[in-house]
Amino acid sequence: MPESRSEYIKLIAEIMEIRKRSDKPMACIHTYGCQQNVADSEKIKGVLYLAGFDFTEDAEEADFILFNTCAIREHAEDRVFGNVGALKNIKRRHPSVTIALCGCMMEQKSVADRIYKSYPFVNIVFGTHSISRFPELYYNQLVNGKRIFDTCDDNTIYEDVPTLRDKEFKGWLPVMYGCDNFCSYCIVPYVRGRERSRSSEAVISEARAMIEAGYKEITLLGQNVNSYGKGLDEDISFSELLRKIDAIDGDYILRFMTSHPKDCTHELIDTIAESKHISKHLHLPFQSGSNKILKAMNRRYTREKYLDIIAYAKSRIPDVSLTSDIIVGFPGETYEDFCETLSLIKEVGFTSLFTFIYSRRPGTPAAKLPDVATEEEKGKWFTELLKTQEEIAASRCRSMVGSTERVLVEEVNEKNGLLSCRTSGNIIVEAQGDDSLIGTFCDVKVTEARNWILRGEFI
Ligand code: 5AD
Ligand code: SF4
Repeated sequence: MPESRSEYIKLIAEIMEIRKRSDKPMACIHTYGCQQNVADSEKIKGVLYLAGFDFTEDAEEADFILFNTCAIREHAEDRVFGNVGALKNIKRRHPSVTIALCGCMMEQKSVADRIYKSYPFVNIVFGTHSISRFPELYYNQLVNGKRIFDTCDDNTIYEDVPTLRDKEFKGWLPVMYGCDNFCSYCIVPYVRGRERSRSSEAVISEARAMIEAGYKEITLLGQNVNSYGKGLDEDISFSELLRKIDAIDGDYILRFMTSHPKDCTHELIDTIAESKHISKHLHLPFQSGSNKILKAMNRRYTREKYLDIIAYAKSRIPDVSLTSDIIVGFPGETYEDFCETLSLIKEVGFTSLFTFIYSRRPGTPAAKLPDVATEEEKGKWFTELLKTQEEIAASRCRSMVGSTERVLVEEVNEKNGLLSCRTSGNIIVEAQGDDSLIGTFCDVKVTEARNWILRGEFI
């Protein structure tokens, strides 16, 4: 039996050299959900790249198809089931294709059982804890043709899994995995397991390698980055980690997500304020403005504590850009509770919001709570929330007209041909310019605000 990951990769390459349907073996990878899933997919792509694969968006021409799935809301799961069902015909046309499913959904036994029984054309199923074992699983499937279902509880962090990043100038850098917070609505602690941090040495050397390779934007990732360091042999906090990375020379911007308000410290805000490279942006999900609902959500902070942190951030970081996640229609929420969420967003003045209607996740404590509001009512509240936030975002954008912003040029907006750029505060500015600017920092004079998107001119 092969003994190492690299041996398995070599053997996959040899098999696929014979079995491939085109010049090169082709892989089609679809990633659903959050940035952590994107980062996991980049590891799988790293393995496939070393095994000689090229990548395609077209499942029809692929030798290997993978869906990396998300379980956060029911809607996300329904989409995956729908899209997996559609793969049946591809398998019929190309029986040699390997179909694999991984990610958070596969960590739920009910889902894995349903795939086993109702989707017999799926060859490999593996969970979030088995990413590092992917070369072995794929090799075994190729060799013996049997279906493989691998979900394990291995919480070890493997530092030697290769990564192939989707972009050459901005990239994700996971600093920790899992979550111990158990917010009562959330499935993540059940599907991604206990919190564990990478060593600071591993994170810092990866950051340094990215900066040396020309990365202009690095986003540190974790479900709750403020818990970074817990359980490590070394004594280090997230703020200290940020300061160590910030000390690396180079022209780059450092971002991170996600912070939890319950342990967002003044030290973290001071670190942002005093840093050279950290973006002046804080993504701090508050979920609800009502103390009653926050308690039922097991968030372990109050509206008042949240507003204190925001006040401190505004006092220390001029023009700080604030964003948040909000859930509408948590069980037991009334219109009065919802109005507290509305008043909080007016008080803070967020740049943008990620808004969700509550989705019942079987197995979480909130799934058993009685609900008073109807789906129709929740829909109306949701629309009211969006409308209120649109006005706030538009007025914030209008206040930026005439200012000069340093932006990272990201891509061409195919719809209007303009270059789409991002400010330190995570706001999009579009400007006319040459493609060669993509991946560079430029100064832009803001000339116009179009709701939450700005227009400008390169200086
Ligand atoms: N229903 C709706 N939204 C949810 N989120 C997490 N779980 C649920 C759920 N069951 C949202 C939270 C979290 C974001 C990533 O997804 O707002 O911050
Ligand atoms: Fe889910 Fe709460 Fe953990 Fe975020 S902090 S992943 S919302 S349990």
